[in-house]
Amino acid sequence: KRTVILISGRGSNMAALIEAADDSSFPAKIVGVISDKAEAAGLGLAASNGIATRVVARGDFASKDAHDAAIDAALREFGAEIVCLAGYMRLLTNGFVEKWQGRMINIHPALLPLLKGLDTHQRALDAGLRIHGCTVHFVTAAMDDGPIIAQSAVPVLTGDDEKALSARVLGAEHALYPMALRLVAEGKARMEGGRTVFSGFEA
Ligand code: GRF
Repeated sequence: KRTVILISGRGSNMAALIEAADDSSFPAKIVGVISDKAEAAGLGLAASNGIATRVVARGDFASKDAHDAAIDAALREFGAEIVCLAGYMRLLTNGFVEKWQGRMINIHPALLPLLKGLDTHQRALDAGLRIHGCTVHFVTAAMDDGPIIAQSAVPVLTGDDEKALSARVLGAEHALYPMALRLVAEGKARMEGGRTVFSGFEA
């Protein structure tokens, strides 16, 4: 399946997806990377892996709708069948989300539905959680709220600070996201009636 990744920054999850998809037996092929930030470090990383990149900056458009329409147009130019959000730090408009619903997934650095939004690692520490992790889910109009595809848990250790905990979760993200994309690309995890339906796979 032709897959396009949306980023805003570092792009380490993007890199994990590109590496996994490099294997010819992987069911998704990364055909493009789109960033809303020209300075995103992930753009260089993608280009050095031979992946086509596009910058679609919010500042170049009069409205959020026009910005999302330009992203939609870029996705169609890439022939995208699946969209992966990987550190894309902008809320997408409802119209855009509806167009890609069931074909767009996101990774969130917490065990949803706990800790939606930003700053999840510090909030996990502040709450005294002993288990934390990450979630890949289908994207719906409500932020960090769509049906869950896969999750990975990590322990919170007694000496953890935000940096140590976020690094542990990020390692889990890099393993989880390719696994979840595989399920979606193979049609083994599908969004139906607002839920994820699994087939042809047991875990
Ligand atoms: C990751 O923690 C991801 O879960 C969150 O934003 C961060 C992006 O990191 N949505 P990277 O750009 O993939 O390195």
